[in-house]
Amino acid sequence: MDRHDLDFLLSDILHCPVLELPLRRDSVLSQEQSALWQEYVDRLKCQEPPQYILGKAWFYGLELEVNPAVLIPRPETEGLVERALGLLQPGSKVLEIGTGSGAIAIALKQSMPSAEITATDSSEAALSVAKRNAARHNCAIDFIQADLFPPQQDSFGLIVSNPPYISPAEYNALEARVRAWEPSQALLAAEDGLWYYRRILERAAACLIPQGLVCFEHGATQRQGILAIAEAHGFACVEAGTDLAGRERYLTLRHPD
Ligand SMILES: C[S@@+](CC[C@H](N)C(=O)[O-])C[C@H]1O[C@@H](n2cnc3c(N)ncnc32)[C@H](O)[C@@H]1O
Repeated sequence: MDRHDLDFLLSDILHCPVLELPLRRDSVLSQEQSALWQEYVDRLKCQEPPQYILGKAWFYGLELEVNPAVLIPRPETEGLVERALGLLQPGSKVLEIGTGSGAIAIALKQSMPSAEITATDSSEAALSVAKRNAARHNCAIDFIQADLFPPQQDSFGLIVSNPPYISPAEYNALEARVRAWEPSQALLAAEDGLWYYRRILERAAACLIPQGLVCFEHGATQRQGILAIAEAHGFACVEAGTDLAGRERYLTLRHPD
């Protein structure tokens, strides 16, 4: 079992930050806490992610509800939020495609309250989680169940998305616990893993204002493939970024019309 997972669970039982655990080494667990600890360890042995065990995860300094209907937000996605924030003007209209727990949309709205944010997901169960998270953080976000784009024609200044991007071949090589517990529709993308980028870029220009932007998170080997699709649809690359581990991870694209 992973030490970080155990610490994450123990800190919740002891109601203290993980960093304080060394100071609490001599704590004696009550009977109730011991029973809970045993339950958590048993669930970890079944490979359940600790975030699903506790029903919560941290993203961009925000505590979010998570359950197996939504992807556990990843730290590298905070880099996408930072890029998107650098592109927003007060009052910008933003569309997030594939919102899951609502992590990106909520982080953007918290940092730029005047932004008008619409967020879509095809999963009704994911949207229920996202709506509860937005309510908990007092964020007014228009959540819509849709296949990528909202059905009503609208024009956005920015489309931001961390779509599914794992090809079927890569999916089989993922950690067993990701495959067993996290929703496959949040991870799997047909063909070479670029299926969602193709579908989004085919339609994005029609939903953007002139000079509108698209900001993507993507897999570490996908940059050139996405750039080729983007170019074919008239987009120019504004920025290509890496995550903290130096992996190619983010693309910002602009459409002139
Ligand atoms: C990689 S997850 C991203 C979740 C969240 N935005 C994040 O970054 O943690 C992709 C999300 O896209 C959603 N999705 C998959 N197919 C979709 C579609 N056709 N239309 C809208 N959303 C879709 C999934 O349900 C999932 O919530």
